[in-house]
Amino acid sequence: MFPKEVYIDRRSRLKNLMNSGLVLFMGNNEAPMNYPSNGYHFRQDSNYLYFFGLDHDNLAGVIDIDNNLDIIFGNDLSMDDIIWMGPQPTMKERAAEVGVEKTLPMDKLAEFLQGEIAKGRKVHFAPPYRGEHVLQMSKLLGIRWGSVSNYVSEELIRAIVQLRSIKDKYEIEEIEKAVDIAYEMHTTAMRMAKPGVIEREIAGTIEGISLAKGGPVSFPIILSIHGETLHNHYHGNTLAEGRMMVTDAGAETPMHYASDITRTTPVGGKFNARQKDIYEIVLKANMECIEANKPGVLNRDIHLQAGNIIASGLRDLGIMKGDIAEAVRQGAHALFMPHGLGHMMGLDVHDMEGLGEDYVGYDEKTKRSSQFGTAFLRLGRELQSGFVLTVEPGCYFIPALIDQWKGEGKFTDFINYDKLEDYKDFGGIRIEDDVLITDTGHRVLGKPIPKSVAEMEEAAGKE
Ligand code: GLY
Ligand code: MN
Ligand code: MN
Repeated sequence: MFPKEVYIDRRSRLKNLMNSGLVLFMGNNEAPMNYPSNGYHFRQDSNYLYFFGLDHDNLAGVIDIDNNLDIIFGNDLSMDDIIWMGPQPTMKERAAEVGVEKTLPMDKLAEFLQGEIAKGRKVHFAPPYRGEHVLQMSKLLGIRWGSVSNYVSEELIRAIVQLRSIKDKYEIEEIEKAVDIAYEMHTTAMRMAKPGVIEREIAGTIEGISLAKGGPVSFPIILSIHGETLHNHYHGNTLAEGRMMVTDAGAETPMHYASDITRTTPVGGKFNARQKDIYEIVLKANMECIEANKPGVLNRDIHLQAGNIIASGLRDLGIMKGDIAEAVRQGAHALFMPHGLGHMMGLDVHDMEGLGEDYVGYDEKTKRSSQFGTAFLRLGRELQSGFVLTVEPGCYFIPALIDQWKGEGKFTDFINYDKLEDYKDFGGIRIEDDVLITDTGHRVLGKPIPKSVAEMEEAAGKE
């Protein structure tokens, strides 16, 4: 846990950003996997962690904006619980660790909220993303369950985004720890990328590293010799010479901060000439876009810069043609990079996505594009000191998408479909790093993970 002042300060700043009423944060509960007492790994809600820090189930937190009061609702454990789970601190002791004096049992929450609602007070809450929270909110606040989303507080969402977007020194330290675990995961994956190995052997090994050094992975591992499938969770292919393995994986620290790193490794340790050509283009996009990271720049412009670098590189190889600036303006490059350049990262790997992507990544000044490709950019707005974001350009050859666009005669001024036929078995390449925006520019977080052609070949060739 961070020092209790961190949580006190966060709640106090939230109160300053909001006008009036109460804020209700529901912690997560245990979720059954295949029968009630066999649960998934418990993961606390990130907003709850941010404002109330406590990392166990069956808790709620209330912040009373007008009366400057914080309350944690939760139950002390019974002797039965202690027999199964061991001794646990009391709720009072736990709450004191995050600077909260007042605690009440969970079964007082409904009565408390109904009392405040009866006085005409507003209860702010963030969008629930678990079915059981929707039902709980409905019951606690007297809202029909089908209408709960209509009562979500936009004022609260905006305040949380404002606070959580700027990472403090404790958070940056945690994220850096998560990247350092990812270093171990990725260099291990590189070493293991040998012909004959099954993807799941590598995926399982690196998931184990995350568990051993921090916590569970920050999202299900993407690892495949079919990197053209952007989020490929199938790990049953056997690695073969001539293929590349995309590994997109990160860890969560015990404090639940994430990393999210992607590397593309030549199976057997050497890129062939065709792979090297495309790899260098993606690497240039990754490095130049990282270089462009500084306060005041629109991340959407950096995303388009990546599009330009990729399209220019593909033009040099004869895969694209014509006026490249115009090709990118019209969105032709999205055949090869049909995703955004990056997203915020913190307690969630796609940080705060549960609050609504547009609140996190866009604002009055920067609206989301509707164009295929750029529309998928999760973070378009102006960068600020304290943001942590990913920079993850890629270049993919997706046979079904190529066939569709070719069939539609799409962007024939910019895409050389005849040449592209030769690349349909290529796969894909993505290179992703985690970057902090500083007052003067940026800092790539964590211990540098191999990524140049020479570094990748050296790391992949190691025994
Ligand atoms: N790990 C998924 C992503 O890079 O957004
Ligand atoms: Mn990723
Ligand atoms: Mn990412």
